[in-house]
Amino acid sequence: MDPDDHVCLCFRVSLRKLNTYLDCERPRVASQLSECFGAGTGCHWCVPFLQKLHHQWEAGESPVMTDEPSEYARQREEYRQAKP
Ligand code: FES
Repeated sequence: MDPDDHVCLCFRVSLRKLNTYLDCERPRVASQLSECFGAGTGCHWCVPFLQKLHHQWEAGESPVMTDEPSEYARQREEYRQAKP
């Protein structure tokens, strides 16, 4: 996933926006990433990925997503269709 690819597909929040938020706002818990353009507050598909990014950042790493964007979007679509 490139920096301008969307991690939160519901609200079109890119990896770049999330990394900027992490560096500027220094959230104590991953759930605070919801303050970054509502990330994670739609279908909730991206919440585990937001948690992973926060964990990487807390560990002093530069947060990255290794997922291929089209596969990521496909899995999110499956997730949405499986919801009751
Ligand atoms: S993809 Fe982030 S809330 Fe739906």
